[in-house]
Order: sequence, then structure tokens, then C-alpha cells
Amino acid sequence: MAPTKQQVLDSLAKIAGPDGAPLTSGGKLSDVMVSDGKVFFSITVDAAAVQAWESVRDRAEAAARAVPGVDSAMVALTAERNATARPPERAAPASPAARAAPSPIGVPGVEAIIAVASGKGGVGKSTTAVNLALGLRDLGLKVGILDADIYGPSLPKLLAIRERPQTLGGTRLKPITRYGLTVMSIGFLIDEETPMIWRGPMVISALTQMLREVEWGALDVMVVDMPPGTGDAQLTMAQQVPLKGAVIVSTPQDLALIDARRGIAMFRRVNVPVLGIIETMSYFLCPQCGTRSDIFSHGGARHEAERLGVPFLGEVPLHMDIREKSDAGLPVVATVPDGPLAAVYRDVAAKVLGQLKGPTRAPPKFVIEE
Ligand SMILES: Nc1ncnc2c1ncn2[C@@H]1O[C@H](COP(=O)(O)OP(=O)(O)OP(=O)(O)O)[C@@H](O)[C@H]1O
Ligand SMILES: [Mg+2]
Repeated sequence: MAPTKQQVLDSLAKIAGPDGAPLTSGGKLSDVMVSDGKVFFSITVDAAAVQAWESVRDRAEAAARAVPGVDSAMVALTAERNATARPPERAAPASPAARAAPSPIGVPGVEAIIAVASGKGGVGKSTTAVNLALGLRDLGLKVGILDADIYGPSLPKLLAIRERPQTLGGTRLKPITRYGLTVMSIGFLIDEETPMIWRGPMVISALTQMLREVEWGALDVMVVDMPPGTGDAQLTMAQQVPLKGAVIVSTPQDLALIDARRGIAMFRRVNVPVLGIIETMSYFLCPQCGTRSDIFSHGGARHEAERLGVPFLGEVPLHMDIREKSDAGLPVVATVPDGPLAAVYRDVAAKVLGQLKGPTRAPPKFVIEE
């Protein structure tokens, strides 16, 4: 017989939190979803008490798994951040409450996690994330890349990964290694054709699991390819991942820049330093003659970076090789390492690393208004 939600709740009722109260009391549990032998739910706790709740989470997962017919259970701890849980959609400077919110716990062994984000979709964020990760690898760093775009994962395609990660000891996942990068994407676990309908807590559960239940090993930098947009889902992600900084990707057009500005505002709101802006599809480099033409009024992102007081990290041209090779799972930095395009990305990587290391980050010149 298929397991029911009530059976799972009955099993969870036997578990007590650090305060001695049953887990099922006090509104700490999200809706418990039971589907196809899989159980998903989250436990919302006071951010200051997260560590004390870790073992409760483990026990809750084991209790859910012990219900007959349950094959797997995914339980996420989400921290309550009263004043910032539902931030206003409009950009605002970080509120005192946001400033006071404790940072999410780091991932053991991972030195720095950086997000690659954009307000607008389709600007070349995932392509940039992959080539930036490879550029950082070429600087001698041990680099991982996490596909946080659980609605439309790109890394299986961009890195031509078709195998599924193996499990280690039945609970942790072994990431895939490609071109020297340690890689994880939800796309490795579900079929490309499966429509992905995620509900709020599941998004965070999936992300939390990919961060904490994957054997990332020792990494100098983990690059996170974020989903496009600056809505609630992205904001929650920016809060849940312990980010050292964010890199914003934009094309030079005005519309993309408006969205890039929203992206910057979003990270500032959750106190994640903006490491800078990268302009992609910046100018057209003719593959035949090497002549450059500024078809999208190149330079907009540099100007915007200056205006907003964030570093400008470089310009990546619009080039057929980038498109063809990305889409074929052969990123240029790995497959044409001596070409001019790889040099561009390596230069961007060096600037990102400089920002990550250096205390040179200029304070914002002014508060961004939208
Ligand atoms: N510099 C470039 N020159 C030419 N084509 C590019 C460049 N960067 C990305 N592309 C192409 O543009 C398309 C979109 O790129 P990509 O998937 O990286 O964007 P994205 O911002 O991650 O998109 P999404 O918002 O859907 O996640 C891809 O076909 C990619 O190959
Ligand atoms: Mg993408």
C-alpha cells in the first residue's frame, strides 16, 4: 500500500525538538508531501538555533524513511528570518533586520561560494558560469559548479553530462567530474523531459541537498549558476546559500541593464557583496575576419558598473564558437584553451578572484533606486 501523509505525520509526532516539544506541534513543519514513495517537507526554525536542529532533521528524515513504502525522504531546515522572510519586491537598502540575520552555514571544505546571476533570462549566464569556473581552474584553483537553476538546469547540456551521480553510503551523492570541475545539477537526477513543478519549500530542499548532501570535497571556489530573475525564489536562494559574493551578467542593452540593476539590488538587500558585472555578447567578433562590431551598443555594462560603484569584470564577445561549443558541451576555455575567447574568460576569472581576495571593493556610491 502506498504510504500516506498521516502515517508520516504519526511517525514525526514521536520526535521531539531541542525544546522537548513534538516536531508536529507549533507550526514548524511545512506541508508534508508524499508522492510515489518519496517524502518532502521542511522544518522552519529560529535561525539562531539551526545547529541544535540538525540532529532533529536527521531523525525526522529517518522516521519518514521508516514508514513502510517510503523509499526516500528529503527534509530541509529553513531558518526563520522574521522581517526578511517576505521582502518587498522593490529594491531597498538592507534593512537593520536583514543585516542582523545570521549568515547561512557554510559548506564544509568549500572556501568560497559565488553566485553567477542576472535579472534577465537568456543573457548567457550559464555559459559564463561554466567558462568562469574553468578560468578559475586555469588559475590553479580547485573549482566546483552547482546548477541552482532547478527550473531549467543547463549544466547537463553545457558540460555534456549524461551519467547519473552515484550514491555514497546510501545517503550522500558523489558529484560528477568534468574538465577538472566538480559538478552537480538537479538535471543529473531527473529526466530532461520531466516537467519541473516545484513548490517553495521543495526548491529550498533541493538546493540545500545539493549543497549539503553532495560530497563536494575540498574546493577553493564553488560557482553557483543561479536561475534568472529577482523574484522571491531567487531572493530566498540568495539567502540560503552562504555566498561570499555575486557576479552579475548582463548584455549591453538597456533592458538587460535594468534587470542587472535589480539583481545587484537583490544581493545588496541580503548583504551579499557584488563582486562586479560581466558584459556578455558585448561586441560581435567576426569569426572569418576577426573584425569587431558593436551591434548591441557595447559598453553599457561598464558604464552601469561605474554608475553603481561596482567593479567591471570584463567583456565577452558575441561569438559563434561560444554558442556552438557551449551548446555542444564543449566550453571554449576547456576545448580551445589557447584561443582568444579562452583568454577573455581567464581574464574575467582573474578579476573575479582579485575581487574575492582583495579588500579593495569600493563601497557603493549610492543606494540604487528602481
Ligand atoms: N558570448 C556568447 N556568444 C554567443 N552566444 C552565446 C554567448 N553566451 C551565451 N551564448 C548562447 O546564448 C544562449 C543562452 O545562453 P545561456 O544558456 O548561457 O544563458 P542563461 O542566461 O543561462 O539563460 P537562462 O536564463 O535560460 O538560464 C545559448 O545558446 C548560448 O550558447
Ligand atoms: Mg542558465
